[in-house]
Amino acid sequence: MNLPAYISAYSDEEVFAHIEQAKRQLGSDVTILAHYYQRDEVVRFADFQGDSLELSRQAARATQAKYIVFCGVTFMSETAAILCQPGTIVIQPAAAALCPMAQMADVEGVSAAWGALSALWPNDIIPITYQNSTADVKAFVGQKDGAVCTSANAERLFRWAFARRKHILFIPDEHLGTNTALAYGIKREEIGLWDPLEPPAIETLRNCRVVVWKGYCHVHTHFSVQDVARGKSLHPGALVVVHPECRHEVVELADVVGSTSGIIRAVEQAPTGAVIYVGTEWHLVNRLHYMHPDKLVLPLRRSVCSTMAMTNARNLLYALHGISAGRPQGIISIDEATAHWARVALERMLEAS
Ligand code: 13P
Ligand code: SF4
Repeated sequence: MNLPAYISAYSDEEVFAHIEQAKRQLGSDVTILAHYYQRDEVVRFADFQGDSLELSRQAARATQAKYIVFCGVTFMSETAAILCQPGTIVIQPAAAALCPMAQMADVEGVSAAWGALSALWPNDIIPITYQNSTADVKAFVGQKDGAVCTSANAERLFRWAFARRKHILFIPDEHLGTNTALAYGIKREEIGLWDPLEPPAIETLRNCRVVVWKGYCHVHTHFSVQDVARGKSLHPGALVVVHPECRHEVVELADVVGSTSGIIRAVEQAPTGAVIYVGTEWHLVNRLHYMHPDKLVLPLRRSVCSTMAMTNARNLLYALHGISAGRPQGIISIDEATAHWARVALERMLEAS
């Protein structure tokens, strides 16, 4: 997005001052929500920061706001637009901030997988989609009796699903799906992989309890077993804390596995003097590093989510000025049928968690 010349000409300090001023003028008409992976220059202006589950809840609770300015990626803003009060408008300051993993599953591909798997296990399979998916995929899952999950409640949603059917199709993160299934006690050989480009021969899946979609987050699959080994040899006794989107071999070596808020809690609870290697997006790790000077918080490796980083103070200011001028930019809109079924899938998650 090309910013107007007057915003580009501001110094950083001027941008920050204008954001403060716009926030003051807009008052309770605007709520700014920011995911923990956002840049510090954005997070400092958030009315609420959170992981993807907490932000979904917060969007539903923002009853005063006429506008939610969502600093994150599109699947999160879409969720906010689906769960917020009727009439509230959700704005995403960086329109192109799409999560690459969410783009790895389209509804045509998911529907093909669903057709094949529900022929294999008639009325005995349920779809679970990770929050990191498009509104279309969430709607498909809602229509098929399924639910959404986030990294904070995936195991709980597995329990919910297995109380209803014997098999799960998990979309779109192979790693979160596999890690959750293994933590749930499903055996490796009972986990199948659905590659949408090269679907497996259906008979090879017959003994599976869970079929995971072949999608991944490049930010989290970047961490390796060697990274953990290097950290442990540099700082024997260091705590390793990772996100469940990491590969299973990394998760297996970690001391704590958690969503972004789980990671924050683990760092807060570690004793003074602890060395903690964190395997998640670098902006959060860096913030934890300077917020906890009594501990040494280090990235397992520097891994940046470039689409999360597309939102910055300048496009946040532009979004606020658009609202003040009565010409909001970057509105998230979802057609009513899609929003309805995606809401069904999201509400099943909120009820179950
Ligand atoms: P959380 O569910 O932990 O907020 O993570 C969202 C995400 O995009 C992780 O890559
Ligand atoms: Fe998507 Fe990964 Fe970025 Fe999260 S960190 S928004 S899953 S690409």
